[in-house]
Amino acid sequence: MLGETMQVTISSGNNINGTLILPLFEGGEALPEIVEGIPTALKSQINRVLADGDFKAKANATMTLAGTEGGKAMLVGLGKAGKADTHAYREAGATVVASCKKVHGNELTVVFHNTDVPCMTSFAEGMMLRDYSYDLYKKKDEDETNLAARINCSEGDATALSAAIDRAASIASGVHLSRDLGNCPPNDMYPMAFAEKAEQWAKQYDNAKVEVIDYEAAKRHGMGGLVAVGMGSSRKPCMVIFTLNGDQKGQHPMLVGKGITFDTGGISLKPGAGMDEMKYDMGGSATVFGTMEALASSGYAGKVVAITCMAENMPAANAQRPGDVITTLSGKTIEVLNTDAEGRLVLSDGLWKAGTDYDPEYIVDFATLTGACVVALGHEATGLWSNDDDFRTRIHEAGNDVGELAWPMPLLPAFEKEMTDSKIADTRNLGAGRWGGANTAAAFLKQFVPNRSDDEDAEQITWAHMDIAGTYWGAKSNKMVGHGATGIHVRTMVRLITGE
Ligand code: BES
Ligand code: ZN
Ligand code: ZN
Repeated sequence: MLGETMQVTISSGNNINGTLILPLFEGGEALPEIVEGIPTALKSQINRVLADGDFKAKANATMTLAGTEGGKAMLVGLGKAGKADTHAYREAGATVVASCKKVHGNELTVVFHNTDVPCMTSFAEGMMLRDYSYDLYKKKDEDETNLAARINCSEGDATALSAAIDRAASIASGVHLSRDLGNCPPNDMYPMAFAEKAEQWAKQYDNAKVEVIDYEAAKRHGMGGLVAVGMGSSRKPCMVIFTLNGDQKGQHPMLVGKGITFDTGGISLKPGAGMDEMKYDMGGSATVFGTMEALASSGYAGKVVAITCMAENMPAANAQRPGDVITTLSGKTIEVLNTDAEGRLVLSDGLWKAGTDYDPEYIVDFATLTGACVVALGHEATGLWSNDDDFRTRIHEAGNDVGELAWPMPLLPAFEKEMTDSKIADTRNLGAGRWGGANTAAAFLKQFVPNRSDDEDAEQITWAHMDIAGTYWGAKSNKMVGHGATGIHVRTMVRLITGE
């Protein structure tokens, strides 16, 4: 990636340019009558394959046909017509791009049977999302060109489809930005490098602003969590604050992201095998940055503020130690029992700042926080905790709507008790045992979500925590992704925030 999102245009004509893409229903495998401009031999070949039952249009099945007089086609399965919802179309679109080889060329024309604008848009979205590879560090392939697709639709659908595809392309640019940030190797992706990328980004938009709180300022402000995690690295920590439409008044959504650009574990060093994967430990901050890009580029007019807590967790002579007690921005102290439980330390300052310097309608944090969450949910669903049941349901549903699963997890008083019974500090960063590690982490974060006011009976700010340790990378069953960072939850957040 690190370039333009794949071009998907529409046409209300019937001509075919390049390879014909034919999405078909299982049990309804037939060539639509409207298809014109296909070489006769290819047309009869498709008809013969379909009539003989040689292609079963099960979800995501594909078959490529090349006519003897030229012309090529790819058949792609949507599954049974009754079950083919927007998710099936999105996956089929992604499958087409994943299956494209040299033989298919760079131009595709998609012709649907009986469908509607949301399904066609999802198919286009799937193509755009899947058309990504991280090749910045590879030698350029000389004859590599960009894939482009055209969708043939009726005149009646053209205006609505074109607007919907433009919006999907803007949102895909946010997903791809998140993936670019996540895939970037950790020698080039360090806290201040992320901050500089954010500052560069903000220059494109009149309504976007980025503020960077550097190491010196973080120390001055008393951001003890961020400073403790980041001080052992020669690449110092920082906090990056993104504001979109800052001139809008009133309460607004607030996002917070864990941004550990590399997590060695610190003095509580991780085992060597697979440690390279800890470059994805800034996935939460990438989700937040990608969401801001998706909102800005799709023209969202409401106010949104996002905070990313950036640090590199290194073992060093000046690193924090297990046993240290640190004072966070909130004034609460933490007994650091394991330096590898660092995400919660940087987030303690980010959450506190989010709730005290701003007036959030709600706060959502994203973090590759615990291995325990991967044990619980694998790579299939994000862990989702909230202090408000209705809000948790809204996020769960927003995720379901866009095909990004976030699974409700419990925020129990017993876990809070476990994380606040340090003998010498207000909180401890490690549970008493290893059980329920994703839940104890969430319960710890809750201690740093401020109340709405200083009144004794004031409510805590509505807050949700999303543990993306399993879903931000390594998600082999995610059809939108070939490899590496997934960019998950940019689309969930756009759905939650805009309602569209
Ligand atoms: N970044 C890790 C969590 C993680 C693990 C993310 C696997 C992605 C894949 C986090 O900082 C961490 O190390 N957590 C510890 C917490 C423990 C020491 C309480 C863990 O999960 O083991
Ligand atoms: Zn860690
Ligand atoms: Zn970590």
